[in-house]
Amino acid sequence: MPTSCLRCVGLRAVFAVVLAAQLCLTVKAQRLPTEASHGIVASASRLASEAGLEILRKGGNAVDASIATGLVLSVTYPRAGNIGGGGFMVIRHVDGLALTIDFREEAPAAAKADMYLDSKGAVIPGRSTHGYLAAGVPGTIAGFALALEKHGSGKVSWADVVEPARRLAAEGFEATPGLVRDLRGSERLLAAFPESRRVYLQNGAIPKVGDKFVQPDLARTLGRMQKDGPREFYEGETARLIAEDMARHGGLITQVDLRAYRAMERPVLRGSYRGYEILTMPPPSSGGIALLQMLAMLEPYDVASLGHNSAAKIHLFAEVMRRAFRDRAEYLGDPDFVFVPTQGLIDPAYARSLMGSFSIEKATPSEGLPAGRPAGLTQTRERPVFDDTGMAESAETTHYSVIDAAGTAVSTTYTLNGLFGNGVTVTDAGFLLNNEMDDFTSKIGEKNMFGLIQGPANAIAPGKRPLSSMTPTIVVKDNKPVLVTGSPGGPTIINTTLLIVTHVIDFGMSLTQAVDAPRFHHQWLPNSIDCEPFLTSRDSQALLEAKGHVLTSRKLYPNDPEAAARSWGDGETVRVDLKTGRLQGANDLRSPDSAAVGY
Ligand code: DON
Repeated sequence: MPTSCLRCVGLRAVFAVVLAAQLCLTVKAQRLPTEASHGIVASASRLASEAGLEILRKGGNAVDASIATGLVLSVTYPRAGNIGGGGFMVIRHVDGLALTIDFREEAPAAAKADMYLDSKGAVIPGRSTHGYLAAGVPGTIAGFALALEKHGSGKVSWADVVEPARRLAAEGFEATPGLVRDLRGSERLLAAFPESRRVYLQNGAIPKVGDKFVQPDLARTLGRMQKDGPREFYEGETARLIAEDMARHGGLITQVDLRAYRAMERPVLRGSYRGYEILTMPPPSSGGIALLQMLAMLEPYDVASLGHNSAAKIHLFAEVMRRAFRDRAEYLGDPDFVFVPTQGLIDPAYARSLMGSFSIEKATPSEGLPAGRPAGLTQTRERPVFDDTGMAESAETTHYSVIDAAGTAVSTTYTLNGLFGNGVTVTDAGFLLNNEMDDFTSKIGEKNMFGLIQGPANAIAPGKRPLSSMTPTIVVKDNKPVLVTGSPGGPTIINTTLLIVTHVIDFGMSLTQAVDAPRFHHQWLPNSIDCEPFLTSRDSQALLEAKGHVLTSRKLYPNDPEAAARSWGDGETVRVDLKTGRLQGANDLRSPDSAAVGY
């Protein structure tokens, strides 16, 4: 071989080595999901995920593990993890049996439709969000107890699932960056209530990262429930502490309200998208109905061919979101109090009819956009009056996902509503209360803290559950849970869930890519697309603006761009990978303490 050719081969070899090294680096640079064979848990707190795993290792199933994870979140992630709030759980057993647990808070018996209005009929600022009057009767403990009793493995007890949380509250844990950031960020709210100042701000000595954070009152509360059972919360010492605190501070919740509270099992809402089965939450969540409506509106379009986060895709999705949120405001409320035409709303043909007014060229104005007319509208309805409004900015609540070795899947979203709820820590009980009453319609046509404008279907009434956006969801294919997902973020929850599902189904993203990809949100009013940083290119933005869209970007922490990026809800997600049969989990880096762990 001539020397020149030898040199050529040599150069090629060097080039090949460099290319291979680069490829290696590229592959390593991509965040990979956690993989496991026996069980996987993803949540906003590593300690909470590990508690779920501890229960799985003891032989518990995904339901048992979810309860332990949820209880630990109340210790390690008090901004949203809770025993003083409520939420929803979607459960799918291996034999295909699927159901939901509704443990949403309830309005106390003394609640009134106009309780947040002054004598002139104006909303009194802060009354539905801060302090004792803002709390609904908590549902979390009743929900967990019902789930354990009816759907747990039977191999671990109530005392077993409470133990990791009790232990962490009693022995303490090292304060995480997320906890410290949250306590500092909510210092004003917590300082307004002496018991919160004592328990969470440690009388002004907010813990630093790495300091031991011990919660003796909460440990005692969990210990009482561990010993006496979950009804202790509703009928025992804990109930007495809640009711006495309420009575002392002008709140409404009584021991009678607590005793009367029941979590309930509701049928799961079922739909489909491109051959995948979607299992999600029915009312009093609006999330499941809106998710199924949006998927049905999208199905006729070749979404993948539009390109991920192209102007054309964002336009189509924003129009779909606009229409689903229009119907949400018109029709949704607690189904035990108002008629909700659920089947009519999720009928794919109906959902597609909403796209009759869609134009590829132009954004549809929100103003004057009528709600659809789903089948089953049997009653004459009071017509709500809506007007435009700015959107409040917030990213609380928490979602976590679990799959066990047998394939049982549990998707849980639960909440105090606002960050640290209503700011009130129950005296001597060591836990925060929710401000879920703000999810009701305080006044028709007025926005709540998420800028959501709601109708009479969601008016306050004693014993009623406020409308929610929480959307715990399980996607099934070939009898396997191929996506267990959900998110916090008020109304953005619904759209985050939609995006994660379509990232996987339409764009074939890996689990981490699906969770990491920047998101956007439209909720009909205000008429704008709220964009996460780095959503799309400048030229795509110009194309969207030319169609008539207004683009906004949320600035939760204006001086901290990193935190602004994180302020969108975290989509803690797990799945069975159909190709390998392995379990995968993707924590969401938008939440700094999150972790997906498995074994
Ligand atoms: O149930 C709801 O829709 C609200 N209470 C959820 C609140 C929430 O996600 C807060 N934060 N991001």
